[in-house]
This record gives sequence, C-alpha cells and structure tokens, in this order.
Amino acid sequence: MHDTSSLIKRLPKCELHIHIEGSLEPELMFALARRNGIRLLYESVDALRQAYRFRNLQDFLDIYYQGMSVLITEQDFYDLASAYLQRARADNVRHVEMFFDPQGHTARGVAFSTVVGGLHRAITDARRELGVDASLIMCFLRHLDEVDAEKTLDCALAFRDKIVGIGLDSSESGNPPSKFRRVFARARDAGFFVTAHAGEEGPPSYVWEALDVLGVARIDHGNRSLEDQALVGRLAREHVALTVCPLSNLRLRVVDDLTHHPLRRMLDKGLMVSVNSDDPAYFGGYVNDNYHAVSDALRLERDEIAAIVRNGISASLMTASEKDSALAEIARVLAEPL
Ligand code: ADE
Ligand code: ZN
Repeated sequence: MHDTSSLIKRLPKCELHIHIEGSLEPELMFALARRNGIRLLYESVDALRQAYRFRNLQDFLDIYYQGMSVLITEQDFYDLASAYLQRARADNVRHVEMFFDPQGHTARGVAFSTVVGGLHRAITDARRELGVDASLIMCFLRHLDEVDAEKTLDCALAFRDKIVGIGLDSSESGNPPSKFRRVFARARDAGFFVTAHAGEEGPPSYVWEALDVLGVARIDHGNRSLEDQALVGRLAREHVALTVCPLSNLRLRVVDDLTHHPLRRMLDKGLMVSVNSDDPAYFGGYVNDNYHAVSDALRLERDEIAAIVRNGISASLMTASEKDSALAEIARVLAEPL
C-alpha cells in the first residue's frame, strides 16, 4: 500500500478531465462570496459540505452552478485556477487540460474576457512559478441550445490563442451530441481540438454520436461504452482515449461501489483509459486521491497504474518531445528501487 502510494506520487502525470469551476473549494467559495458581497444559501463551510450528497449528475449540477455564482472578477478566476494548479503540482501533475464553462458566467453578466483573462493569467504564472503546463478547453453546456453554443464559439474565436479545445458537458440525458453537430463542425474548421462528455449517464449511442457526428478525438467518461461490444471494438482499434473519473462516478452514483468500477474491464479490453478528478472540490479528491481509491478498490498492479499514467500522456496535447521525456521519466521511476 505504502509502495503504491509512493509510486502514484512519483509518476509524472497529466490531468485531462478537470472542470476548473469544480475545483472551487468551500473555503475559497466563502472567501469570494465575502469579497464580492454575495450571500450564500449555506451558513458555513460545514453546512455546504453536508449538501454534497448527490443522487445523480443533475443533483450535483444544481449545486455546481450555484457555487460558481461567487466568481465575478478577473481576480476571482485567477485565484480559482491558481489554487487548483498549486494542488495539481503537489500531486506531481505536469500537464493539465482544463475545462471551463463560460455560459455559466456570461449568463450572470460576467464578461467572457473576464473569465478567460483570469484563467489564462493563472496558467501563465503557473508555468513560470510551478513548472506546470496548462491549457484551456471551453465546454458548451448541453442543456442550453445550439444557438447559445454558436454565440459562445464566436466569443472563443476572439481568444483563439488562449483556448486549445472545445468540449461538451452538463446534463447528458436527453441532450445527445447530435444537438451540437453544426457548432462542433465550425469548431473543428477553426482548428480547435474537440472532445465531449459521453456515456457518463447517457447511452452508448451518445458515444457513437460524439465520434461520428461531432468528430471528437477523446471521450470524457465513456463508462457506458462497455454495454456495446461493437463500440468497445471501435474504441480499442482506434485508440480513442477515455478520460475516466472514479471518485466522480462514485459520488454521482454512476457506480455503486468502486470495486465495481469499470476501469479494470476497460483496461482488459485494451481501451486507452486515463484517471482524472472531474470536480475535485465536490467529489472528495484530486488526481492522486482518484488513483489511490481506484487502485485500492481494484487492486491494480504497479504496471497497470503506470499504463494508465502513460495513457494520459499519450492522449494529451503535449508535444511529441514532451511526451518522450515524460515517458522516459516514468521508465526511470519504475526502475527505482522499491
Ligand atoms: N460539469 C461538471 N462536471 C460534470 C460532469 N461530471 N458531467 C457533466 N458535466 C459536468
Ligand atoms: Zn466532467
């Protein structure tokens, strides 16, 4: 156990599935509420944490959108991202692809430039001060319509140099990827990397649509792909990366117990799975906590943990030489005496 914990810490990791608004810890939420003169629905940090008992994705999203209402100024977004990046550095995360939800802010009257400005400044400082490399993936909220997503893409085009990719998140059931066919085509034409949440609560057909209609390069979650053997074959053959989030799946009741988590079956079927934190402030753990929890529950071997970390590196937007040096470092860590 001690050995596994030390291995997880020493391996240089990528985090490819983190919603930056989901890293808003209750303490920072209260501090920002005070700074901005906002009254929260909960009396204290403890009362707020007590409310983090979710029956499903929608239960969580309702609280997540309430929580982000304390983010108003450029400095707020800077403080949010800085806190996460420091936490990521402590977990030996070297490269982050950070989701953000601009529609959750612009709908409240916060300018798009305020959001991107604060997040980007934190990323620039973290690169210099922490040695963590991070980039931004803007998500469309799928419970809103495509016209709203189109307007959001127009905003992003003015910040093309600060945003690397486009994703799709929020309430999955009833909001299939095909709802966003046109706006994703436009995002791809503009040269953005594209990814989408699919198969978290939604059916395998949503994973097919994300691949075939949206043309995504990765699938975020993808758990329910295992219900469709033809889909599993396709994902394995085409080395489509799945960004899996074990503690999120547990807390949102996508799985009833981590010992039943599909990660081992995914590995056994040759799927390219990585481990990520999703919304760490809400789900009880950052990336290393996710590695620990799922390794303990599934009794993962050293080689399996290393394979998952390598998958995250291969599936990332690191350059080929950055990938080579991270993979070489992993080989050195594995060769170190126990
Ligand atoms: N937004 C933040 N976290 C999410 C998740 N796990 N699924 C869908 N949308 C999200
Ligand atoms: Zn997510």
